Amino acid sequence: MSETAAGDFSSSGMPISARELEDICNFVYDRTGMLFGEQKRYYIERRVIDRITQSGSASVRAYISMLRTDSREAERLINSFTINETYFYREEHQLTCLGRSILPDLITSRGAGDKIRILSMPCSSGEEPYSIAIWLLENWPLVDAYNIEIIGSDIDTAILRDAIEGYYGQRSLARLSDDIVKRYFEPEQDMQRRLIGDLRESVTFRSANIIDRASFSALGKFDVIFCRNLLIYFDDAARTTAVDNLYEALSAGGYACLGHTESMARMSQKFETVRFADAIVFRRARGG
Ligand SMILES: C[S@@+](CC[C@H](N)C(=O)[O-])C[C@H]1O[C@@H](n2cnc3c(N)ncnc32)[C@H](O)[C@@H]1O
Repeated sequence: MSETAAGDFSSSGMPISARELEDICNFVYDRTGMLFGEQKRYYIERRVIDRITQSGSASVRAYISMLRTDSREAERLINSFTINETYFYREEHQLTCLGRSILPDLITSRGAGDKIRILSMPCSSGEEPYSIAIWLLENWPLVDAYNIEIIGSDIDTAILRDAIEGYYGQRSLARLSDDIVKRYFEPEQDMQRRLIGDLRESVTFRSANIIDRASFSALGKFDVIFCRNLLIYFDDAARTTAVDNLYEALSAGGYACLGHTESMARMSQKFETVRFADAIVFRRARGG
């Protein structure tokens, strides 16, 4: 029987020793900003043991060494660690804020046909950027008067493939009205509905890492960035890096929308806090 099948990877009797678990968590933290530790042992062990099995490594130590030299395996491990929870029309009041306050403000300095770039980072399986597209089509009368570009980005390359495919189950669709589901999704098959082709093509997906300035800045500058439900997984140091990178990725006068538990003091040091009727958001100063 292989070590993996026996589930006995270390002399401590635990599948993964405390030291090995710490090394793996440090690796994931350095690459992603996500903080894991002993208290998440069950979550971590299941994923690492699965990756060791799949990669054919002889031991946990051998697998840790492999991670440092094999970028594909590092990507697979990171993909397995990410928490991809999301759904359509999550925190809809921010979409309302986009249509009622943010875009009306941005277009005061634009002409008809001008480009407006919106980033959903992290976008997970696509529900957030597709929600932005659907919400604007449904509610923003000027949607055709401007060239709106929507980009979805995430560190998890596997979940981005799902986003491009655009198949969704009931859990993802629960907040959408029957009418919207009927008009924007194909008929149900195997408990899933596929987003219609026109909508799938309206969003471009690119992988990027919010704590890696080079990969983030390769996406270009944006007028609006939705960065929701990611910073909660970070510690202060990673949050500071992420906020600095968000700032750099915004055009002067551009807006950042965070999840409702993420309105941090740190944002207000760099950004102007703007209290619109539907949401509190953060703006890079117009002359900034
Ligand atoms: C909980 S989902 C949030 C999805 C969506 N924004 C929402 O609020 O519904 C968190 C996502 O963050 C991504 N993620 C984790 N670390 C990241 C990083 N360093 N850069 C970019 N995305 C990251 C994960 O892959 C995951 O898909």
